[in-house]
Amino acid sequence: MKKLLIIGNLLFSMNIYSWYTLSAQKVKEIFVLADKPIADVQPTMWGVFFEDINFAADGGLYAELVKNRSFEFSLPMTGWNQIRDKGDGRVMASFYSPANPGNPRFLRIVVDAESGTYGLTNEGFRGMGIKKDMKYNFSVSVRATAGSDLRMKIELINSNGEVMGGTEFSGFPEEWKKLSASFKSTRTEQKALLRILFTGKGTIDLDMVSLFPSDTWRERPGGLRKDLVQMIADLKPGFIRFPGGCIVEGRDLTNRYQWKNTVGPVENRKLIMNRWNVEMQDHLAPDYFQTFGLGFFEYFQLAEDLGSEPLPILNCGMSCQFNAGEVVPLNELDPYIQDALDLIEFANGDISTKWGRLRESMGHPAPFNLKFIGIGNEQWEEQYIERYKMFEKVLKSKHPEIKIVSGSGPSPSGKYFDYAWRELKKLSPDLVDEHYYMQPEWFFKNAARYDNYDRKGIKVFAGEYAAHWKESKESESRNSWYSALAEAAFMTGLERNADVVNMASYAPLLAHVEAWQWRPDLIWFDNLNSVGTPNYYVQKIFSNYKGTQVIPVLCENRNLTGQDSLYSSATNDKTAGKIYIKLINISTLARSVSLNLQGLSFGKECLAEILKSGDRYSYNSISNPKVIYPVTKTLAITGKKINIAVDPISVNVFVLNYKK
Ligand code: AHR
Repeated sequence: MKKLLIIGNLLFSMNIYSWYTLSAQKVKEIFVLADKPIADVQPTMWGVFFEDINFAADGGLYAELVKNRSFEFSLPMTGWNQIRDKGDGRVMASFYSPANPGNPRFLRIVVDAESGTYGLTNEGFRGMGIKKDMKYNFSVSVRATAGSDLRMKIELINSNGEVMGGTEFSGFPEEWKKLSASFKSTRTEQKALLRILFTGKGTIDLDMVSLFPSDTWRERPGGLRKDLVQMIADLKPGFIRFPGGCIVEGRDLTNRYQWKNTVGPVENRKLIMNRWNVEMQDHLAPDYFQTFGLGFFEYFQLAEDLGSEPLPILNCGMSCQFNAGEVVPLNELDPYIQDALDLIEFANGDISTKWGRLRESMGHPAPFNLKFIGIGNEQWEEQYIERYKMFEKVLKSKHPEIKIVSGSGPSPSGKYFDYAWRELKKLSPDLVDEHYYMQPEWFFKNAARYDNYDRKGIKVFAGEYAAHWKESKESESRNSWYSALAEAAFMTGLERNADVVNMASYAPLLAHVEAWQWRPDLIWFDNLNSVGTPNYYVQKIFSNYKGTQVIPVLCENRNLTGQDSLYSSATNDKTAGKIYIKLINISTLARSVSLNLQGLSFGKECLAEILKSGDRYSYNSISNPKVIYPVTKTLAITGKKINIAVDPISVNVFVLNYKK
């Protein structure tokens, strides 16, 4: 009897549930017009936006483990600590050599440790991530004064003070010389330190103290962190926008990004304070600098490695208007415009040219094939337009082959935005960069934002977007499932309007879990691991299933832009002979729909890739990286239909093969 009651109750509740969802639901049949392409999808459609924020470059993608390796941070001993064990010594940190303007300082060390030791430790970027059995490459520039009799021990130590690996040097020259050695680590450690111990008596100068893992991306010495590059590569980005947004502008003009200071020998690249060092009062990072070990050559090389178009952004003669807002007078703008011309020569010029020759000397005689350049980031009002106009005039006449990306300010609407678009329409940028850091509801409501944009006008670059959701328990936004869902719904609108929106990128890309200033961010990492957010997997779905042409997805002859909480877009991949249908359900109810496939002949089944979680607040973390993670299943195609029970709050892509 009890059993019968339970079954009865279950049937009852199931019936109520199905009745409710079915009767309340209007979207029951969705038509996919597979043979009626409405627009081309640009190869650049889905890309990435790299900014050196949240320790994304130094302490992140750039695999250098030593912080403040050249003692050039404002406080020259930042990251370094002295240690003594029955020996003595002292450092003179601000020794300065004007002959080397890119890297004037070095560390003078006076050692008095005939017995015992005197030395230094370097703390790395919130420690150094070290892997067991991995080879590490150490190097240092050194000279000693005559008569010095010193030995120098290099050691990696773990948090218990145990030695995990190292090497030794002695017999130092009186002239500067670069010494290097490699050693393996016997352990894995999240927060190792580098220890430099001296014995003997004498004076020694150190500069460019460096330690790199040997397993960098493509095993390049002094290269990039492999796991992070792999995460980016897995997105198959159509472009890489670099080196950032506000980083390009600088808090003031002296703090702006100057690409010429980021190329050539790494020891001559003049570092500057990272503007995010002081920007966020509740996330101050006084030890955040830009060494430019990851500079413009490396960005171009990365783009080439990943098959992405490089999109460098240049300062337009204005510093950040949220900060100093300095503006270069129009009659003094030439050097800024020249920087743009020289950059094109650096990327594409023949090796007989000045900047082409520098590229060759850095190991890349072939051009990087630069096609896009961005002028300014989030500038606004006439100060921007006046300067942009001057750049455009010169670039269009000297380099008509390069597409120019202009900005529309920091917001997706309002007086600055309207003014920028009105004025830019009188000019000839190829793309206008729009930024949206908004609440999830904005993204849901704006899925049709581009349906009514001018089809023949300037193209849009959705250059920075992320749904920011202030959750009850957190003062700032996390990468919650709900934020990713909102972006997915919005991205169906970007995809459907691929004839207007030619490029799009989430922002920012990377964040160190212990050293961030801004969130949400696409990929989080610590010193050894990385994790993709739900937002990352949403990006991956759209980018990996990009297609070459947009095809209509209609319900009652209308685009699906939120009816019954459903959003959809689809593309045809003519090269692969596949159709990709994205379907997003933002309701907490399941939806039963049938996809009616028109126009082409499909096989008997299709692949579904699904992201879902019942908890809108859920997110991935380094200790729990797969809370929201793609699952796949196979669905039957019956006749020309796929009947689907779309999971509550889910992002789905259906991959169908057709006969070409
Ligand atoms: O992505 C973080 C910042 O947001 C960018 O630097 C800037 O362009 C925007 O304001």
